[in-house]
Amino acid sequence: VNPIEIVGALEQVPGGRKRDEAGPADPYSRRRRTRRLAEFLAPSLSGILRQPLDEALTSRIIGTIDAFFAVYEARPLRDNSGGASVNDSLCLFVIARLTDPALIVESGTGQGHSAWLLRQACPAAEIHSFDIDHGALAHRCPDVSYHLGDWSGWDLPPHDPARTLVWFDDHVDQARRLQEAAHRGLRGLLFDDVFSADTLYATGRPPVPTIAMLLDEALTDGQELSWHRNGKLYRVRIDLAYNKRARALLEEVWSLPDLTALTRYSPGSGMTFVRITP
Ligand SMILES: C[S@@+](CC[C@H](N)C(=O)[O-])C[C@H]1O[C@@H](n2cnc3c(N)ncnc32)[C@H](O)[C@@H]1O
Repeated sequence: VNPIEIVGALEQVPGGRKRDEAGPADPYSRRRRTRRLAEFLAPSLSGILRQPLDEALTSRIIGTIDAFFAVYEARPLRDNSGGASVNDSLCLFVIARLTDPALIVESGTGQGHSAWLLRQACPAAEIHSFDIDHGALAHRCPDVSYHLGDWSGWDLPPHDPARTLVWFDDHVDQARRLQEAAHRGLRGLLFDDVFSADTLYATGRPPVPTIAMLLDEALTDGQELSWHRNGKLYRVRIDLAYNKRARALLEEVWSLPDLTALTRYSPGSGMTFVRITP
């Protein structure tokens, strides 16, 4: 018998999601968690970075995941319901830190958690965060620019497209976002809520057509998709010509694996990195 002892208590987190607040505390379990996450994420990160999956990259990934957990423990917003959870935050932090952008544009500020996280991941980057409603904005970083409105009406500051990362977490049509980014000569985009046609119920206002739907060869023109969520029935009709125009812009798509099986935290929302055809 190995009796479990209570050896300490953490401050209660008002509104915190209990499971997502939990985590290993001893060095052995923490090291194992990081190592397993690194192995799981490494193939997609190697593709995103266009770097061979060797010892050097693996050790950079391990260091970045360790850095994430240290940073995440100190997050100012303890409950980010409706925004990036632990698993998605981890992917966001790791991709931002490893791709090392000089300019980051975020569409979908929400409470301000992901903008704060991006600032921690990339201390030297210029960061602009957009939302059409600042009612929920609860944390502002002094060195992030918060814009009220849609990014499409904004002139990008001088930038190197190869060192610019745009992160869309705004529930807006992803084909439209792809076209807007391509029109501006951008290359590296990160999307949240990339759900397949048969899992659109997984989020409120799914950003249809999602990147996954643009790649779905089985969808036909005029086809109707419908789903139930929170007691309502939703419907959308496929416009194949529109989807194909956006799909032609895709050079590479890297879907990050869902980390839930490893972390046991709430499922992520289909974080997906996209490289636009030059
Ligand atoms: C899921 S929340 C963002 C969460 C945030 N990224 C985080 O994880 O901390 C989505 C946000 O997108 C915003 N939104 C909706 N339409 C938008 C648009 N056209 N441009 C920018 N933001 C928009 C909503 O107001 C909402 O605050």
